[in-house]
Amino acid sequence: MIFEEPDGATPLDPDENQGLKLSHVTTRGELDELEQANIEQGLAWVSRRRGGDIFDDSFIRTLHKRLFGDVWRWAGEYRLTEKNIGIDPFQIGAQLRMLLENAHYWSKHEVFTPLEAAARFHHRMVQIHPFPNGNGRHARIATDILLEEVYDHSPVVWASGFDLQADNERRAAYITALRSADGGDFYPLLVFVGAKLICS
Ligand SMILES: Nc1ncnc2c1ncn2[C@@H]1O[C@H](COP(=O)(O)OP(=O)(O)OP(=O)(O)O)[C@@H](O)[C@H]1O
Ligand SMILES: [Mg+2]
Repeated sequence: MIFEEPDGATPLDPDENQGLKLSHVTTRGELDELEQANIEQGLAWVSRRRGGDIFDDSFIRTLHKRLFGDVWRWAGEYRLTEKNIGIDPFQIGAQLRMLLENAHYWSKHEVFTPLEAAARFHHRMVQIHPFPNGNGRHARIATDILLEEVYDHSPVVWASGFDLQADNERRAAYITALRSADGGDFYPLLVFVGAKLICS
């Protein structure tokens, strides 16, 4: 089954599509709803859990499994295939651990303001693209956990009244900002997360 994806998403390959646990799903709308219900369960788990540190790569995988594991068999497992976004699958484990070490260092030594650390953490996480799907949603939640639990800071206002998973101006700004960050310019992403005001 092929589902229509918005701009900046990664389509699943046929093997990954086989990982759908619920054979009755036929439309994108049904899939979105099931994933959303799973994510809500996952968020409840995030708030009640004991332990599980955002700088620990096993927590990063467990978080993905909690958010998507009722819907997809491969939830919580790193992708094995190349995507239109993301690094070589064989480098995911090492690059993710490096990001988590860096982010830990940033917080310990106050290298960046909370929102700038959040923007850089988020961008590298989605750029690595650890999982076959759900990377955007997982990394937005992981970023909010970083802000709340490490920086004692409120979460990012990601959607700002829009649906960030559909094509609209907020998603366009988000994807454009991530693409700028790919090229080393973090300014649009800092504006997006509210770390910088737009100067005209
Ligand atoms: N050029 C890019 N550089 C880095 N990350 C990107 C780029 N383009 C898109 N992304 C990220 O990839 C995500 C899409 O990947 P994926 O489909 O795995 O996530 P998703 O949670 O299913 O989708 P989404 O959150 O977009 O609805 C986007 O949400 C965004 O975070
Ligand atoms: Mg997707």
